Amino acid sequence: MNKQLFLFLLLMSNFSFAQRTETLLKDNWKFSKGDFEKAIDIDFNDESWESVSIPHDWAIKGPFNKENDIQRVKILQDGEKKATEKSGRTGALPYMGTAWYRLKFNVSSQSLDKKVLLHFDGAMSEAKVYINGKFVGEHPYGYAYFYFDIGEFITEGENTLSVRLHNEPKSSRWYPGAGIYRNVKLIVKNKDAVERWGTTISTPFVDKENAKVIVSTKTIGAVDKIVNEIVTLEGKSITKIESNDKFGSTFETILAVPQPKLWSPETPNLYRLITTTYKGGVETDQIKKTFGIRTISYTSEKGFELNGEQRKFKGVCLHHDLGPIGIAINRSALKRQLVLMKEMGADAIRTAHNMPSIEQLELCDELGLMVIAESFDEWKKPKVKNGYNRFFDDWAKIDVENLVRATKNHPSIIMWSAGNEVPDQYGTAGVKRAKWLQDIFHKEDPTRPVTVGMDQVKAVMANGFGAILDIPGLNYRTHLYEDAFEVFPQGFVLGSETASTVSSRGVYKFPVEEFKKKKYSDLQCSSYDLEACPWSNIPEDDFILQDDKPWVLGEFVWTGFDYLGEPSPYNEEWPSRSSYFGICDLAGIPKDRFYLYKSRWNTKEETLHILPHWNWEGREGEVTPVFVYTNYDKAELFINGKSQGIRIKDKTTRLDRYRLRWMDVKYEAGTVKVVAYDKNDKVVAEKEIRTAGKSHHLKLEADRTEIMANGEDISFVTVSVVDKNGIECPTANIPLTFSVKGAADFRAVCNGDATSLEMFHLPKMKTFNGKLVVLVESKNTKGTATLTVKGKGLKSNQVDLKVQ
Ligand code: GAL
Repeated sequence: MNKQLFLFLLLMSNFSFAQRTETLLKDNWKFSKGDFEKAIDIDFNDESWESVSIPHDWAIKGPFNKENDIQRVKILQDGEKKATEKSGRTGALPYMGTAWYRLKFNVSSQSLDKKVLLHFDGAMSEAKVYINGKFVGEHPYGYAYFYFDIGEFITEGENTLSVRLHNEPKSSRWYPGAGIYRNVKLIVKNKDAVERWGTTISTPFVDKENAKVIVSTKTIGAVDKIVNEIVTLEGKSITKIESNDKFGSTFETILAVPQPKLWSPETPNLYRLITTTYKGGVETDQIKKTFGIRTISYTSEKGFELNGEQRKFKGVCLHHDLGPIGIAINRSALKRQLVLMKEMGADAIRTAHNMPSIEQLELCDELGLMVIAESFDEWKKPKVKNGYNRFFDDWAKIDVENLVRATKNHPSIIMWSAGNEVPDQYGTAGVKRAKWLQDIFHKEDPTRPVTVGMDQVKAVMANGFGAILDIPGLNYRTHLYEDAFEVFPQGFVLGSETASTVSSRGVYKFPVEEFKKKKYSDLQCSSYDLEACPWSNIPEDDFILQDDKPWVLGEFVWTGFDYLGEPSPYNEEWPSRSSYFGICDLAGIPKDRFYLYKSRWNTKEETLHILPHWNWEGREGEVTPVFVYTNYDKAELFINGKSQGIRIKDKTTRLDRYRLRWMDVKYEAGTVKVVAYDKNDKVVAEKEIRTAGKSHHLKLEADRTEIMANGEDISFVTVSVVDKNGIECPTANIPLTFSVKGAADFRAVCNGDATSLEMFHLPKMKTFNGKLVVLVESKNTKGTATLTVKGKGLKSNQVDLKVQ
């Protein structure tokens, strides 16, 4: 029996007064691919099945195969006129098919008198849940929250939980992953208690003196009194209120927080609400909810305001996969992504195109990132044959309700999104669906507005679809922003999805020109950041709108990180199997574009970034343009000490407004130096890059050298090939091997190459343009762990981690 579960049961049997226990069902699951109807039976023998822990992604270990979910389709959103073979569209990983999970768990006799809920944060997908051979319920949408009251299915002693999941091919436009990839919880509480998701906290009035915190508490059973107390995260009591005014099953209380510390991306202050319920003077339940105090408003006069201050979203869209570990939720992998985005200066994310995980929202609350929580990529009209269109009629209302109920108290969420580029943008039925969904959001949560990311801008201007939304969100189509602003009544427009510039880390192509849908024989894209898709654009086109149009609410760049699947512009070319859109690559290593956004968004730090690298043997004397991404307006470039001239940002020229470009530089090995000047021509900063010599040894940089001994914390170690002087070798593609000893394990490795077929979970991989990232995961025991990295002809290296 799993240790946690055992402790929990011990607790339940010895202390029957324990009011509420929430136990993660993490370990000791059995798993097998294939359809085993008999797996629902209590006495089914699963000994030969694989033992797994949840969260789990059954498809991430591959292998990659062109035939996995090969889609012969035309992508209408991309303007395609005829069907072609798309090989890597869903990542070329084996996510399709049926699989079963089984878990034995014990129930004490005391639990039988209580409310017992089995909760899933999400399961990919078409979950059917059985306990002791009986069907409990189902939930098809892989990104949805759901739970069952399992009181009538459990018995004292051992119980058998069986979960059947099924993924149809052609059910996604990206790698959806597969399995019980988010947490599963067993909740045992009294029958007189707070209802699941029964607490709703809002902060409608805030000033320096006081914040009004309204708490509505829905209860079950015969609760006759509640006490709501607000405390600091350290537990210091701030205010407390008692109420026995019950309206139906709900208690409404208003609490005042004096001199409130507001939540914002810059000051992510949080509070905790403790709700205690009573029946006949006896305590029956207690729950704790973290929340933040903040106000949001969207008006045609001032656009978006957070806590009364106008601001524009500096946002990125994030897909749900975590690169080399697939979709299995992992807090440290999520945190690394969000920390990198914050370092770049982003203040918001859009969970595209899925319902966010609780872990992601908790991290956004803590770190300070605003969130557009999205729900669907499809309504009733299909984008992919077996997508959500099959479930929309029966499940959309439930899925939206569950999303809002499960996540509404997160201060980070500042907007809901009902959908992304749904084909229902066409036609009156779609307009009705938009209104219907928006109304469900409003009914569940009157405090936040609703958007839809729209790409059929002319259609939604004509048919009223865009006009009925709280926030009209435009995906790309920068040439239509003005028209949309004129036609729509809201008085503002949101760049719900922007850019989709494509690039491969460390790859530069010549001549340097702007291109749409440019393809190269190596299936890579150029990092001069001038390449996009037919529907998309380079970052400048969005910057200009953000800067020149006060009515644009901000932008959400596609995407913060490369993700598995959707390898545009190489949808038809094998072995491309992951995206090129990321500001960071699939390994989480920043591409050049990171610094272009940083130069604009992170105004607290200096940015002075030179591209390309300076190892162009064979290009001597050839034109090799140099770009500098910087927050400074003026700089001079030197090649081996020779000035190449001064460049000044020029507001009147699209390509010179945000980057400094030296287009005529001729390559010669040596040094590239940039010197930035202030308005008075005083030198304010310098940066130099150099041509690297032969690969010599390996540099290892861990994002964290201390990790927690919890069996899931990950240190991300960036490995770079360097020459004898420690200069990074930007063209080195060298096979490396990895081993971890001590209190951690090797978990995965990724080099960010969208065409690599090497598997992430095996301890060997080639560097891609000199780099890769190794993921080292803690065990449950404290101690030291050592990662050793070796490569032929290179001096090996190692890094020690403290696991505590
Ligand atoms: C958008 C879409 C995204 C992604 C992106 C690529 O139209 O919403 O999911 O496909 O294009 O540019």
